[in-house]
Amino acid sequence: MSLDLDKRQRAMLGEMGVRVWTPEPVGGPARVEAAPRDAPPAGAQAPGRPVTGNAPESIAANVHLTLDNGQKESIKAGRARPTAVSGGAPLAPRTGVALQPRPPGIELMDWPALQDAVAHCRACALCHGRTNTVFGVGDVTAEWMVVGEAPGEQEDLQGEPFVGPSGQLLDNMLKAVGLSRHAGVSGAPVAAPAALRGVYIANVVKCRPPGNRNPHPDEVAQCDAYLARQVALVRPRIILAMGRFAVQSLLQTAEPIGKLRGRVHHYQGVPVIVTYHPAYLLRSLSEKAKAWADLCLAMQVVQHPGGV
Ligand code: URA
Repeated sequence: MSLDLDKRQRAMLGEMGVRVWTPEPVGGPARVEAAPRDAPPAGAQAPGRPVTGNAPESIAANVHLTLDNGQKESIKAGRARPTAVSGGAPLAPRTGVALQPRPPGIELMDWPALQDAVAHCRACALCHGRTNTVFGVGDVTAEWMVVGEAPGEQEDLQGEPFVGPSGQLLDNMLKAVGLSRHAGVSGAPVAAPAALRGVYIANVVKCRPPGNRNPHPDEVAQCDAYLARQVALVRPRIILAMGRFAVQSLLQTAEPIGKLRGRVHHYQGVPVIVTYHPAYLLRSLSEKAKAWADLCLAMQVVQHPGGV
């Protein structure tokens, strides 16, 4: 049996430290199919909408994986028919959060005004410790949008999301599905290979929490209008919500990620796929296969908007 994974999918699995294997045929040993680390993404679509073409067959196949720690996993990447759901267990309404003045009219701002508003925001205590605000990066017309948590040390220093170790893993994952933060309408100084499409990356919280602690609820609440406007301006076809704080902020739910994965949620009418944060994936090998399944589901939603 052949697994029919294409190059970009193998590349992604390789970057994630996951080997693909084929179940033992009758009378023969299992065959391990090494995933090349730097295979160029195959089948990347030309920029622009609408996206056409069928989801790769492998998306619907059983995929057998071996993780870095030798643990074996089989995932049915496309078998579960995800159902559209709204948000899960609701969080308590945002009363009791002492909001400081933010600039009025965020919901009407264009990109320059929004970026300027974030750069000068002093609506919560995080502004005192920041070196830079971390607004967002990538293609402002992208089909895919990634939402992370909050800047870390490197992000604070450079003013760009996901530039530390978890950013490297994120970039490799995105590359494997044909995406790059440097592609598309980004104005980024680094040129991306022509085959890659753009992606827009932003965090829920735009300033670094001291010592990389978790953002506090009031900090998330102060910042979420900025993220809402970024989503409204990009108008992506899919949002990948990475980690607990992205999920809680977008979906207003306290349910754990494990319970929210594998289904299509919505934010501002945009499909949202819930997945683990790259920093968590770097620590938790066994979850990498699940993150792979989440990316497959996101690809399916983009390629078959009405059919998932
Ligand atoms: N983690 C995040 O969620 N965002 C970043 O920008 C960096 C690390």
